[in-house]
Amino acid sequence: MFTKAENDLMTLTAPGTPGGKLLRAYWQPVALASDLPANGAPLPLTIMSEELVLFRDEFGRLGLMPINCPHRGADLSYGRIEGGGLRCVYHGWVFDVTGQCLEQPAEPRGKQFCQHVRHTAYPCREAAGMIFAYLGEGEPPLFPEHEVLRAKPEQVHIWKFRENCNYLQALEGDIDPFHLNFLHKALTSLDAGAAPGTVDQFYEFYVNGTPRMEIDRMDFGLRIFTIRELGERAYLRVTNYVGPNLAIVAGPTGDDGYTALWHVPVTDTLHIKYMVNFKRSGPINHEMLRKVYELHVIPGTDLQNRRTRENRYLQDREEMKDRWFAGLGPSFSVHDNFVTESMGPIYDRSKERLGYSDMAVVAARRFILQGIADMAAGKEPQGRIHDPQKARMDDIVVRSYLVSDKANFRQGIHDRAVAAE
Ligand code: FES
Ligand SMILES: [Fe+2]
Repeated sequence: MFTKAENDLMTLTAPGTPGGKLLRAYWQPVALASDLPANGAPLPLTIMSEELVLFRDEFGRLGLMPINCPHRGADLSYGRIEGGGLRCVYHGWVFDVTGQCLEQPAEPRGKQFCQHVRHTAYPCREAAGMIFAYLGEGEPPLFPEHEVLRAKPEQVHIWKFRENCNYLQALEGDIDPFHLNFLHKALTSLDAGAAPGTVDQFYEFYVNGTPRMEIDRMDFGLRIFTIRELGERAYLRVTNYVGPNLAIVAGPTGDDGYTALWHVPVTDTLHIKYMVNFKRSGPINHEMLRKVYELHVIPGTDLQNRRTRENRYLQDREEMKDRWFAGLGPSFSVHDNFVTESMGPIYDRSKERLGYSDMAVVAARRFILQGIADMAAGKEPQGRIHDPQKARMDDIVVRSYLVSDKANFRQGIHDRAVAAE
């Protein structure tokens, strides 16, 4: 259904690639705010195979630029924060957050030409404890003011994971609602053996419900309905694909908030997953979520996962008999990390056999390919925001609840169980 050429278009994101051009046309998270504290050292980063340096100047303003100094290429992440920007330690040139060269102290007086030197600089925004940047060409679109990005710090819990595979196969997992019935399944009752917050209250539907799916095409991407019927009752999940690389789904806060997941390529075979849990009604349980995180990432390391390809993800065949279907413990993020890495560094979609349950994944790929085609034709790709009315992303609806009228399950999806703000 998808060719090798289409696979390359969607998965390769280095500078100059069509897929990289598409992802760069949208605001992307590039770091956590805590990665770059005030007065902290400049941070070397690789985003979509491009080496960059992120820094805060003496006034707290954020700068992001290619890592090599435009003079003779020294690594600017070793630079000093002074003189109104970032000073290269090789010959002392200073660049401000707009990339403008402010000083060339090694040049003789009267021969300095710093007003003619401007390094590439990418606009940055800080929101909800994350730093976003626009790495594309021309004017950036409006910043998407998602509900989670407007929330108070006590309402959000931010996670960051390193995933050793292409960004797209991991993103596809987020909009693949049927894998809840298998990969994440617990074999015992809700209370036994499960870490808090990892098993949803609708567990019986994940195990036994017969899924049905419908998709609405939205300006931002896709609104995905999954309805699981069990006898007289029906459980509805509404999930969102926000093109090109964000998913917003029901998470541990159930119907009272959501989980946003951005998958941002480091290289074509490594990406960072930024996952943000949001509780609409008030403070989220940071302590409990931190414990779940530590099932996945070893504290005090540079995002080192406990379970890796090398240790076969510590799969436990005993546990598979009566506790966890996949034998990988209770953490959903561990399950997702395992299964998407297991597909290989860059999954070849020309080899797959797609079925009914893959309809959202297929629709998301069509969104990406259409965006690439539009950009190649000089057109605006879908989902870039220019209308301030749309910047609040109010069309994003996330639900996880039992519906009373399963024939008309779309009715009432906007009636939030918990009032916003
Ligand atoms: S290489 Fe940076 S100032 Fe010379
Ligand atoms: Fe999952």
